[in-house]
Amino acid sequence: MYSDIIADQKKKYGNRLAILGHHYQSDEIIRHTDLKGDSLELARQIEKLEAEYIVFCGVHFMAESAAIVRRKNQKVYIPDASAGCVMANMAPAYLVDKVLTKIIKESGRKIIPLAYVNTPAAVKTVCGKHGGSVCTSANAEKMLSWALEQGDGVLFLPDKNLALNTADKLGIPDEKRMILNIRAQGDQIDVQQTLDKKLLIWPGLCAIHQRFKLSQVESFRAKYPGCKVVVHPECPPELVEAADGDGSTSYLIKYVADSPAGSTIIIGTETNLVNRLKNEFPDKNIIPLRISVCSNMAKINEKNLAELLQNLETASFEDVSDEIREPARIALERMLQVCA
Ligand code: 13P
Ligand code: SF4
Repeated sequence: MYSDIIADQKKKYGNRLAILGHHYQSDEIIRHTDLKGDSLELARQIEKLEAEYIVFCGVHFMAESAAIVRRKNQKVYIPDASAGCVMANMAPAYLVDKVLTKIIKESGRKIIPLAYVNTPAAVKTVCGKHGGSVCTSANAEKMLSWALEQGDGVLFLPDKNLALNTADKLGIPDEKRMILNIRAQGDQIDVQQTLDKKLLIWPGLCAIHQRFKLSQVESFRAKYPGCKVVVHPECPPELVEAADGDGSTSYLIKYVADSPAGSTIIIGTETNLVNRLKNEFPDKNIIPLRISVCSNMAKINEKNLAELLQNLETASFEDVSDEIREPARIALERMLQVCA
């Protein structure tokens, strides 16, 4: 029934409506989308969209990023605005701003902030204001190299695993990186470390990817000799090191698509995507490293999508103030230009 409502509303709005879906959305949502992709692919598409109504099926920072780069005549919606990202919540803008200011002041160095796209708009604003930028899991290597060239050091946030995995790929040695130990009490911020490293890392993580363990990889390798293991780079470094490959959600999809029929592939990422790959590639043995659902991604369903589409003209949409938007847009566009 909800799917009929969605189909009717899509027909009613035609090209004036675009529904976008992140790869972690359930099949019941993905089948209604005009575009699906990883966070980089979707961010790239926003500026090209002609549609006046953009409905983002994903988590809140994704819709908010779309609202930052949208044109004036466009409106961006998310079917459930409470669909947050646990990791994004670990780096609130006021704290990022305070910590960055403290580091710059105490170290006397030019520190470039580089925010994973999984952050609130106001964090991207801080990055834009300090000559920094944004990255996704698909371009973290390129963006970290870029950021390292812009100053004396980089503050990478909020995902420590993505930072460490990217540093490993770029050959940044242990002695040149440090995970910050931030203590905040009211207005007082304490970072009890010497801030002289090249790569300063925010201590955030994704609970969904942190659940994957090396012991799970080892038992699958023992059970399926010759199997391949691929994981998302939000997983802990020891897991990425033990895997045959790691990359964004689009990388994982391509890995499966390019593998020969009959392959056994163990995948360490969100369950909706692994289940979809299992259905789409019945000639391959696709196994989740373990079940790990992003409960925020799962908040978007056919019911709230249908209800939104029925009330598009009056529904509240995602917006950010000009003060937040301009520097955040600069940060996002730096990324799109560096990775054009
Ligand atoms: P992608 O960059 O692969 O789309 O991943 C986004 C995300 O939230 C992963 O947890
Ligand atoms: Fe955020 Fe993790 Fe969910 Fe991705 S999987 S949206 S990083 S909580």
